[in-house]
Amino acid sequence: KRVAILISGRGSNMKALIEQARGYEVVLVASNKVHAPGLDTARALGVPTFAFEAKRDEFEAALERSLADHKIGTIALAGYMRILSAAFIGRWRGRILNIHPSLLPRHKGLDTHNRVLAAGETVSGCTVHLVSEELDSGDVIAQTEVPVESGDDASRLAARVLEAEHYLYPKALSEFVRR
Ligand code: GRF
Repeated sequence: KRVAILISGRGSNMKALIEQARGYEVVLVASNKVHAPGLDTARALGVPTFAFEAKRDEFEAALERSLADHKIGTIALAGYMRILSAAFIGRWRGRILNIHPSLLPRHKGLDTHNRVLAAGETVSGCTVHLVSEELDSGDVIAQTEVPVESGDDASRLAARVLEAEHYLYPKALSEFVRR
């Protein structure tokens, strides 16, 4: 029930996970970017932070120590923009969640909203899934559909999907830790 959140940037999903925590506790926010805006948000909410810029293996080794120090059971990725090593994922198998701004398995990877619009799709959404070695391909835990509206551009669609993310992720994590 002790959760660490990994971020690289804004941290709006991180904020939602902290503020809507039910049945779990966010005890650490870790970032691979020392200037990630989300770090200030985490500190303002009283959550300890760990930020370190280094080569991936070095970062992950330091992160592992911090996760152990904080007795972390579950990791939630929230806009963490670096692919975790297979070794790290192997050690944490079944205990890392991610949120992705599309209805997986559609639109894995980056730039999802533009791809949804280019395909002329009328429904998009967001997905919470387990992290496996293959990007955006682990088991789906929860999804929310969000309508594409006429006149949408990527930023309007992104904002609508993000609102759904902020509701879905805390709910999915609560259910996940209760399983
Ligand atoms: C979100 O759209 C999330 O789905 C994706 O990256 C974005 C992170 O935004 N993985 P934030 O840092 O949580 O505000």
